[in-house]
Amino acid sequence: MSEHIGAKPGVWEGEARPLFLAPMAGVSDLPFRLLAKDCGADVTITEFTNSTALTREAAMSWRKMESHATEIPFIPQIFGGDAGDMATAAEMLAPTADIIDLNFGCPAPKVTKICAGAALMGEPDNLVSMVDGIIQRVDVPVTAKMRLGTGQGANNALEICKELENIGTSRLCIHGRTLRQRYAGEADWNSITRIVNEVEVPVVANGDVNDAESAKLCLETTGAAGLMIGRGAIGRPAIFGEIKVGLGWMAEEELPWIKELGEDWYVRSEIGRAFATRKWCWDKYIEHSHKTIGLQPRWMQRHAIAFTKGLPGAKKIRHMMHGAPTPEDFAIGISNYLAPNTNE
Ligand SMILES: Cc1cc2nc3c(=O)[nH]c(=O)nc-3n(C[C@H](O)[C@H](O)[C@H](O)COP(=O)(O)O)c2cc1C
Repeated sequence: MSEHIGAKPGVWEGEARPLFLAPMAGVSDLPFRLLAKDCGADVTITEFTNSTALTREAAMSWRKMESHATEIPFIPQIFGGDAGDMATAAEMLAPTADIIDLNFGCPAPKVTKICAGAALMGEPDNLVSMVDGIIQRVDVPVTAKMRLGTGQGANNALEICKELENIGTSRLCIHGRTLRQRYAGEADWNSITRIVNEVEVPVVANGDVNDAESAKLCLETTGAAGLMIGRGAIGRPAIFGEIKVGLGWMAEEELPWIKELGEDWYVRSEIGRAFATRKWCWDKYIEHSHKTIGLQPRWMQRHAIAFTKGLPGAKKIRHMMHGAPTPEDFAIGISNYLAPNTNE
């Protein structure tokens, strides 16, 4: 058992279980992952990266694989349709990674057309032998994230998971949808439960966990070893702390944005608290960017749109986003927009 992956836990009795920030292309960049940890996420994973590009030393792809001393464990996620490139990329990452995660869940046509991501679930033998080849080549734990199946024919995640367990995969994460469903419909937690019950490695449940209530229901239903949160964390990384407070795993006054405001927090309106929380998160995102890879305009823009979404005046701030002369001005502009309202 790896120091970063515990044993499979038993029935959930309300105790804390790890919360994962989902790997998300265009979202889970390094400063955002560090921010998610500040907000209460226990584990973060990089966005998926093309293994063939990594083997060709593509700078853009290696940039996605950067980490920081405070990101423990560091878990890069890779995808690809070529077993040799997958194993080589894993080998290149192993010296710096604590765990290597493999993507068998992506439904994007540019990925599935090279028979990578979720398309590999349609070729289970190839999927399993690919993972086996990787496990043979690296001495760090290997984990896999997948869907329930392709959606053509019966779902096969359970059979695949049993085989992956047998060859030494250390942890599995199941997104409760099929490839065909992409993001439509409700995540099927009952199918995740069957996998949790039938394998001995820890299984993380993923799909439609958006708040403390759904987190509780998902843990009650699945008994999973942890929960992974994707879309619910976009623009709202505070969700991790909010879930922990809602489930009684931490005290509300321990949340860092409340700690910073002290008594002021309690006299604010709901919207005033939303501004205050998002300002704290935005400022931390910028601080982590400076500390790691510097301000990245495209990443900042995406997060700024998500962080301000739904707040009064958010549309007007879009003009400022386009007109900011430098990334520093952009960062300050968003922070200022979020600031005055914290007095509400
Ligand atoms: C914008 C976006 C990008 C994603 N990129 C990845 C990725 O790089 N790797 C991966 O395994 N899943 C990726 N996913 C899927 C999520 O990790 C997660 O499985 C899915 O969103 C379901 O969880 P949720 O209901 O909490 O959002 C992505 C999802 C979104 C919305």
